[in-house]
Amino acid sequence: MAIRLGDTAPDFEAQTTEGTLRFHEWLGNSWGILFSHPKDFTPVCTTELGEVARLKPEFAKRNTKVIALSVDSVADHEKWSADIEETQGARPNYPLIADPDRRIATLYDMIHPNADSTLTVRSVFIIGPDKKVKLTLTYPASAGRNFAEILRVLDSLQLTSVHSVATPVNWKDGEDVIVVPSLTDAQAREKFPKGFRTVKPYLRITPQPNK
Ligand code: BEZ
Repeated sequence: MAIRLGDTAPDFEAQTTEGTLRFHEWLGNSWGILFSHPKDFTPVCTTELGEVARLKPEFAKRNTKVIALSVDSVADHEKWSADIEETQGARPNYPLIADPDRRIATLYDMIHPNADSTLTVRSVFIIGPDKKVKLTLTYPASAGRNFAEILRVLDSLQLTSVHSVATPVNWKDGEDVIVVPSLTDAQAREKFPKGFRTVKPYLRITPQPNK
């Protein structure tokens, strides 16, 4: 069954390049990103997994653990990791799940048979510390993902989980945000001491609260 926003991320046990783990236990109190790629030793995936390794400090800054998955074996993941290091200048520094029997891929609906009956699509699940799914994303095999966008939306999710705001189109950390419509003007004045600008009654802009 498809996994929807707000669902509890299914728990599982997995063999990974960093040993056997239970997903929820491994996540602990962190945010998490579970992402799948179609196949080891393929070009687009090689660039993606190198980029995620380079971005590890950015994920760590956001208290976020990343974990990759494909239908390949741990032995293949390890062999391929050397290629990723050689060609991308960064070796995966996060676990790669081996899912040759597609147990976890099926649990997370990562195989879309009308696209490919055996390989996982490029799925991304962002999971909050409450283990609820906060974002899902599906890309085809032919298009590498933009992990800068994944960091951007993580910033938005983390901000809006704490403050009564939403983030506008193309927002980036540090830019003005939107006061959620459920707050009255009086409530907004209390919550946002820097004030807000009313463009329309339903569109009120305020500086990012935690800056
Ligand atoms: C790739 O990562 O380059 C790729 C993987 C599977 C199908 C097509 C492309």
